[in-house]
Amino acid sequence: MSRILITGGAGCLGSNLIERLLPAGNEILVIDNFATGKREVVPEMPGLKVVEGTIADASLVDRCFDEFSPEVVIHSAAAYKDPSDWEEDAATNVTGSINVAKASERTKVRRVVNFQTALCYGRPDRVPIPVDHPERPFTSYGISKTAGERFLMSSGIPVTSLRLANVTGPRLAIGPIPTFYQRLKQGKSCFCSDTKRDFLDMDDFFSVVDVVLQPDAPTGIFNVSTGESRSIKDVFDAVASFLGITIEEPPPIVPPGEDDVPEVVLDPSETERVLGWKATIGFEETIHRMLFWYDEHGVSDVFSHLAEPKN
Ligand SMILES: NC(=O)c1ccc[n+]([C@@H]2O[C@H](COP(=O)([O-])OP(=O)(O)OC[C@H]3O[C@@H](n4cnc5c(N)ncnc54)[C@H](O)[C@@H]3O)[C@@H](O)[C@H]2O)c1
Repeated sequence: MSRILITGGAGCLGSNLIERLLPAGNEILVIDNFATGKREVVPEMPGLKVVEGTIADASLVDRCFDEFSPEVVIHSAAAYKDPSDWEEDAATNVTGSINVAKASERTKVRRVVNFQTALCYGRPDRVPIPVDHPERPFTSYGISKTAGERFLMSSGIPVTSLRLANVTGPRLAIGPIPTFYQRLKQGKSCFCSDTKRDFLDMDDFFSVVDVVLQPDAPTGIFNVSTGESRSIKDVFDAVASFLGITIEEPPPIVPPGEDDVPEVVLDPSETERVLGWKATIGFEETIHRMLFWYDEHGVSDVFSHLAEPKN
């Protein structure tokens, strides 16, 4: 049982963690500006308080830390929605992370868990990408998240930064899986970019967070992935097969865009060795779980297990 402050708690990963950590008896404070998160998924209820605001505002962050006295911080807030809005990415991902680091240090937080994007590696020299691969971000999101992670790691508090594969689970509403699901159901055509990614099931994400939340868990930077490289065409085939659709014309495979990276697959071997954690759910099962969820709830980032059922 802990007091856990979650930045970006109304987002996909934050809200899934809340649905898991709240029933376990933790007390949670969320700071979110709802830039991409949804208020409906974090309804105020006993044990859960939500503050609307930006982590770029140092006085708001300080006030939340002083009033709530968190023991643990899960730093999940990030800005990325407009790649040309460098100012917002820097305000949230750099200044916001500095504010979280300083407030955590000042109020003697026991541990901070940060989530990092694989885009910190830029265009990698090799795949799977080892955790000691040089950082070469080249997008606004990647550059600002890299700086944010560095500031956090330079602070005097125990920080664990998890560099995540594509986490797949409830409320995932962007990317190839929901896009193919929706378009194929509507009889629309699809195309696949000629890229490869790794996909991580939400339950495997939960299990690594459980490990790093332990008071004596190692700190540092870890790749969190299955290490399994899958093409976007593999995703298309898995969705079509789940829906029982026979594809007469295979979808066109288009070259990756200029700011895209052809293959992003993280090497989890150091994480497995140091944390004793290993992903257990493979690609097909992860995709199937996701598609069953869409069958039940639709492609939506709004449904919450915490909210009152509508009927
Ligand atoms: N989902 C993944 O597969 C994945 C992979 C790699 C890294 N990550 C990282 O995990 C974290 C969570 O990602 P997500 O997929 O849940 O994204 P998300 O967009 O669903 O969640 C981010 C949340 O941060 C909030 N936010 C944005 N700017 C803010 C600000 N200035 N102040 C307060 N709140 C703010 C948004 O409203 C949103 O609720 C991010 O740090 C992201 O970089 C996620």
